[in-house]
Amino acid sequence: MRHPVIAGNWKMHKTIAQGVAFARQLKARVAGLHHCDVVIAPPFTALAAVADTVRDSPIAVAAQDVHWDREGAHTGDVSAGMIVEAGCSHVIIGHSERRQEHGETDETVNRKLRAALAAGLVPIVCVGETLRDRDAGRTEDVLARQFEGGFAGLTAQDFSRIIVAYEPVWAIGTGRTATPSMAAESHRFLRRLAEKAFGAAAGLRILYGGSVKPENIAGLMAEEDIDGALVGGASLEVDSFSAIVNYPQARRDQP
Ligand code: 13P
Repeated sequence: MRHPVIAGNWKMHKTIAQGVAFARQLKARVAGLHHCDVVIAPPFTALAAVADTVRDSPIAVAAQDVHWDREGAHTGDVSAGMIVEAGCSHVIIGHSERRQEHGETDETVNRKLRAALAAGLVPIVCVGETLRDRDAGRTEDVLARQFEGGFAGLTAQDFSRIIVAYEPVWAIGTGRTATPSMAAESHRFLRRLAEKAFGAAAGLRILYGGSVKPENIAGLMAEEDIDGALVGGASLEVDSFSAIVNYPQARRDQP
């Protein structure tokens, strides 16, 4: 049985004060929660303060990116050790916004992933196709390429510590969610790739991301191959994020 994960990616939102206020409120809402892991990913500036606020609660903190070197002349970058010191246990790697806006490739994803694993972080590695890829029937090719490049050379032991997030680019911030069955199909494909590359993949947690909302989370989570969500916009308000975290109570969208 895979333990679900609900993660909130704040992207470039929230000051330190706003992040801490959010974390305090969320902490009160998730006290005693056991049905899923809860992760929030503030911007770098707010990591330490938010991590201090949620200490001794079920909430884990993730960075949104990491550099592969331990230290060095990399202006603007942050190392895995620095992220750990700030209080993070997780890190998002290879988000499509970083691939598109910062030229990240499967190779840099792989280097970042190794650095994160070496520092003891849990990497949440994002993959997903663009609308053009999907329309051209290339979804599986793209996922296979991102999977093979991103996870190249890892041992099965390394791989067992990774969380994968399937985020179709066309569903991010667009209000256009993949249907639960569409998402589940890609999740099954990713799990087959994992089985082929690393043997047992039954424990691999694959999150869906792309316009996840309180209204659609229950339908997504009803799919056996969807193990959680990586939430952008709806993770910025405590009410909507708590409603997603508490998805077992959410009403299912009528098809
Ligand atoms: P939205 O939930 O705003 O579509 O963003 C998804 C995402 O990119 C999470 O990483």
